[in-house]
Amino acid sequence: MKALLSIFQSKFAPREPESAIRANPRNVSAWVRLIDARAKSGDLSHHAMALVNAHDLHPTGHAVHAFAEDIAKKGGEALERLATHPTKNIEPAIEELVKWKTAIQCGDSHDRSKGYFLDAEPHMELQWTQIIFPLIKDLDFTCVLDLACGHGRNSEFLRRRTKSLHLVDINQSCIDACRMRFGDTKDGTRFYYHVTDGNHLKMIPSDSVTLVYSWDSMVHFDKLIVRDYLLDIARVLKQGGSAFLHHSNLGETAPDSNWATNVGTRSDMSAKIMRDYAAANDLDVVLQKVQGRAEGWGQDGLDCVTILHKRDL
Ligand SMILES: C[S@@+](CC[C@H](N)C(=O)[O-])C[C@H]1O[C@@H](n2cnc3c(N)ncnc32)[C@H](O)[C@@H]1O
Repeated sequence: MKALLSIFQSKFAPREPESAIRANPRNVSAWVRLIDARAKSGDLSHHAMALVNAHDLHPTGHAVHAFAEDIAKKGGEALERLATHPTKNIEPAIEELVKWKTAIQCGDSHDRSKGYFLDAEPHMELQWTQIIFPLIKDLDFTCVLDLACGHGRNSEFLRRRTKSLHLVDINQSCIDACRMRFGDTKDGTRFYYHVTDGNHLKMIPSDSVTLVYSWDSMVHFDKLIVRDYLLDIARVLKQGGSAFLHHSNLGETAPDSNWATNVGTRSDMSAKIMRDYAAANDLDVVLQKVQGRAEGWGQDGLDCVTILHKRDL
């Protein structure tokens, strides 16, 4: 009887998080339990603790569990690598969870609901003519990529200046809306549609794009997501090509914070971090303009637009 009880207990008792991770590296809740144990024993750096608290990576945390299945799918390969030494790799694992939780949550909040897209569309003409176009008018529009295109309100203006336009978004619903809007060709411009996992441009050939453009999307992207995108932006740009990126500057005052609970749902990205990422990818910063109330963002210093240039070798 005693022996039976002990078999029963060892079978059904929750495993130690470390062995649960080794058994299944994609077990997000086991990672969260290990993070909790390390946090409680004071073994995490200040940066890691800030991420854990901002993103509620606790056993009771809602978002990390609500999106666990998708996090496991998208971050699974990295988690498998990190699971060889779960405790030693706990800080990169925290970053991996934060990265995917933020991307998936941001995608989810723009899926299905048409609210943002309907509200934002009428503001586009003013934003394009008064804020955007004066900054980008001299860039090369030969082949353009609209990153996180939504329902295509920017693409509507970009398409008039290019013959080749790639539309990329994390949501199939957004890509479907753009395909309905533009089709495969319109007024001589060819459209190419791509769904991304949320941090890469794998489907775009290297050295093929002259302008990567992103407006009112990257403002929500966690700096870890922007870091990944910068790698691929540098890769897909032709020499002499540029990237025009509208991103958050809130990280200046709120580092390691959570876009979903921040003012204006802005992320922890900043102008300074963008300069660091650009340098790491051999991209030159040709312009940075911090934005705020004048551009309609509600708070001075909230956002930044950066223009990057890929050097001619
Ligand atoms: C606020 S909307 C802006 C859309 C468009 N740029 C505009 O100005 O209308 C943000 C868009 O980013 C997309 N998105 C969110 N996270 C993403 C990610 N990590 N990678 C690519 N697209 C993402 C959403 O699906 C949504 O279409």
